[in-house]
Amino acid sequence: MHDAHHRYPPPPSAAELGIKEPTHRPGQLRTGDDLPKLKRFRFQLLADHVTRVVAPCRVADIGGGKGLLAYLLMNAGYQATVIDPQRQSLPDKYKDLVTGRQVRIPPGSVVPHRTCPFVADMAVDFDLLIGMHAHGCNFQIIDAAAASRKSFLLLPCCVIDEPAVPPHGTHWLLWLASHAERRGFNPHFFRLNFKGQNIGLYAASA
Ligand SMILES: C[S@@+](CC[C@H](N)C(=O)[O-])C[C@H]1O[C@@H](n2cnc3c(N)ncnc32)[C@H](O)[C@@H]1O
Repeated sequence: MHDAHHRYPPPPSAAELGIKEPTHRPGQLRTGDDLPKLKRFRFQLLADHVTRVVAPCRVADIGGGKGLLAYLLMNAGYQATVIDPQRQSLPDKYKDLVTGRQVRIPPGSVVPHRTCPFVADMAVDFDLLIGMHAHGCNFQIIDAAAASRKSFLLLPCCVIDEPAVPPHGTHWLLWLASHAERRGFNPHFFRLNFKGQNIGLYAASA
């Protein structure tokens, strides 16, 4: 038995996605910041990426889980709210990737939380809709951002449980991007430095 919905063509190359990769001389050892991080550091890497592409604003962390991304963004001056039907506590610590040190999250810390599924109407309260591993919500986020003229940023792990499946032979990342283009966006791919599916899609409000 196999599920055809979960069999995707190979991922497009960075060049096909328009991602500029750092260049390494042949034989040059990759060290320190160059080395890909573990997937669990995606929160820190994405928060850092957001600070590079969008000025502080109102952010919805859709499917935000424990809320670490929202917490890091709040510390960076953003107003962040987790929208997730499941309420979870913040972790008690995280690693600061710049200093390499563990940072304790003070006991009792919370991030604003809407404990319900994301619906399109909520977009009006935010400037940027983020979906990191927002299972089954990627299309909804793009559509809500288009309807309310907001920006969006997706870091999907897959497109399982989205309302449609990619056309045969089209990689799902390109399929998501083409959906965003049909909604009037000019999306750009980016890559974060962690192991696994590390390609995201960002589009400023149309
Ligand atoms: C795979 S977890 C990702 C959590 C976190 N963003 C991360 O990267 O680890 C998916 C999250 O999406 C939430 N979720 C599922 N359906 C949702 C919906 N309709 N609206 C908002 N969040 C949803 C789940 O409760 C879960 O916390």
